[in-house]
Amino acid sequence: MKKILLLLAVCILAPVVIYATSANEGDAEETYDEDAFGPEAPIIWPQPVKAVIFTHATHTVEEEFDCESCHDDIFEMEAGAAEQGENFTMQAMYNGASCGACHDGETAFSAAAGGTPCHIGVRGHARLMAKESVSGEKPGH
Ligand code: HEC
Ligand code: HEC
Repeated sequence: MKKILLLLAVCILAPVVIYATSANEGDAEETYDEDAFGPEAPIIWPQPVKAVIFTHATHTVEEEFDCESCHDDIFEMEAGAAEQGENFTMQAMYNGASCGACHDGETAFSAAAGGTPCHIGVRGHARLMAKESVSGEKPGH
């Protein structure tokens, strides 16, 4: 009797479990998981030059860094903190501080390389701010 009940339970539950997991997989492709990959909105620093952009997704999803690669040794989990410190200058980065810990021409493209995608300029900043306020999303900074 117990065996039949168990069999019955498996027959009923298996499709439910399979359905639930496949539905989850579908969701994972559409919804960005901020707990797993960090904030979705880019971090934008208007200081010391206008403006520099950092996107978690390219670093955590594409490059597969874990949070500990940056937090909290290199960066605090607080947008706008870095620009308050003395390590957020190009010279400090050439010496291996902050973004320069990786952007040294070996782990990642060098911070010293011309035309890096980090600096979006005054216009890029204005464009992003306009876009963020239209979409109602608060920019990182
Ligand atoms: C490649 C480096 C890097 C990695 C990896 C990284 N972060 Fe960050 N994170 C940053 C930087 C840079 C900031 C902005 C810090 C600042 O402005 O001083 C930041 C800020 C944050 C913030 C604050 C955002 C806000 O609006 O105040 C959170 C939360 C955060 N990170 C979570 C995560 C989580 C969770 C992970 C792992 C899934 C992660 N980060 C991985 C670099 C990284
Ligand atoms: C833990 C290592 C690490 C740190 C720290 C890091 N990066 Fe990166 N970053 C990478 C790697 C790896 C890539 C992929 C490109 C490559 O390999 O050259 C990348 C790519 C990028 C890109 C191009 C892709 C994109 O997101 O548009 C930008 C811009 C960028 N990083 C900005 C920054 C800035 C700004 C900081 C500091 C606030 C920073 N990164 C800190 C490792 C790092």
